[in-house]
Amino acid sequence: MDIRLSSGSVIPVEMHKVRIVQKTSLVPIARRLEAISNAGYNTFLLRTRDVFLDMLTDSGTNAMSDVQLAAMMVADDAYAGSESFYRLAEAVQEVLGFRHTIPVHQGRAAEHLLAKVFVKPGDVVLMNYHFTTTKAHMELAGATVSEIYTDEALNTQSGEPFRGNLAVQKFKEAIERYGPERIPFVRMEATTNLIGGQPFSLRNLREVREVAADYHIPLVLDGSLLSENAYFIKRREPGYADRSIREIILEMMSQVDILYLSGRKSTSVRGGLMATNSKEYYDRILAWLPVYEGFATYGGMSSKEIEAMAVGLREMTELDVAGAAPQFIEHFVGRLQGHGVPVVTPPGGLACHVDARRFLPHLPQREYPAGALAAAIYLTSGIRSMERGTISMDRDAEGHEVYADLELARLAVPRRVYTLSHIEYAVDRLTWLYRRRELVKGLRFVEEPKVLRFFFGRLEPLEDWGARLAEAFEADFGPLH
Ligand SMILES: Cc1ncc(COP(=O)(O)O)c(C=O)c1O
Repeated sequence: MDIRLSSGSVIPVEMHKVRIVQKTSLVPIARRLEAISNAGYNTFLLRTRDVFLDMLTDSGTNAMSDVQLAAMMVADDAYAGSESFYRLAEAVQEVLGFRHTIPVHQGRAAEHLLAKVFVKPGDVVLMNYHFTTTKAHMELAGATVSEIYTDEALNTQSGEPFRGNLAVQKFKEAIERYGPERIPFVRMEATTNLIGGQPFSLRNLREVREVAADYHIPLVLDGSLLSENAYFIKRREPGYADRSIREIILEMMSQVDILYLSGRKSTSVRGGLMATNSKEYYDRILAWLPVYEGFATYGGMSSKEIEAMAVGLREMTELDVAGAAPQFIEHFVGRLQGHGVPVVTPPGGLACHVDARRFLPHLPQREYPAGALAAAIYLTSGIRSMERGTISMDRDAEGHEVYADLELARLAVPRRVYTLSHIEYAVDRLTWLYRRRELVKGLRFVEEPKVLRFFFGRLEPLEDWGARLAEAFEADFGPLH
């Protein structure tokens, strides 16, 4: 909850108590240099023992509540007809308003099923912005992805509250251009992961829905950060300040034909979900569920996680839960801005995003500024962030680089995991790094997978800059921290 102090400043105060902790450690700079070198300058390949604050992602890393943990103890492990599933389906009906629930093992499993059921070669899937796994699944099914975002979407220094909006006029033009029969669905992502966790407005969702309905194009919503998007609607959209998160979520869902989500985020568990009111869509998806995921009542998820998801769905409608990460992120972004560090604005829903092109203006995109920045952040702080730039794009069919629209180092703020002193530490080390930014040079691939290369690719630093950055760090802070 944002609380105003007597000094006038506002801080995000945690509305929970810590009752179980996990030890973390801050290894010395020499070990960090060794670890990032062994990881091929790819933060995905670091081990937890070498990471101080894990800000790689909020996926599956949010802190669960005591009520969620308790629910896991009463899970029904029946292969078929599990009571845990029916408790989840009840929560889906109550919170999301959908009659049909399909559990899947995580978000990308839902994308796989969507591609399998709805997408054919030559199709064009329209979306407000792509996500890595979504794009991969649509392309593997022979379709292309077309993003129809607004002019403000890629402006990293924007004041526009809903940069995740889909450009409605461009949507109409795309339907005219491709023909509705080639558009299996339009996908809205709440919140748009790759452009800074930016939300869309309810007004925009309604407009998209109207156009889609005119052409009988289903509206699919990726609700991985559904409660955060609802939080931003409450805070930023005129007319919603007095509406509860629960009411806003239900209003959003009333516009949607199929919802899917990675339950690893808003619901703080490890699983995924699809939901719809269309019996036809449900039947078509269900037919493939046992082939790829599991029986209808577990869909590849552990029944313990299904129980926790049912609780997580209800908990995410609480203002203090939906707002926990956005408020920390806003504070994080504001503090970095105060030190002149180039961050993405307005603050979004999943992370503090640092704009690598403005942080490292001396690096061309072909030297992967966002990847270099993520590695440099690890070296100077022990904080693991994620590259969200050109490394996160795969090469095209001819082997040419596809340059990302934005080059971002993403410092995710998993819900209820870190404290304000952790954020203050991150602010300090990022500020130090910004002052020494000229020491950071580019990266080049030494091992480069063809699909989703950011996960397992290995790179090396040009001009051995990692060692020089480590030396500068040690000169200022000593060998230990
Ligand atoms: C917007 C969005 N969609 C889909 C996914 C894929 O979900 P999962 O990681 O559970 O497979 C993610 C994961 O981060 C995501 O952020």
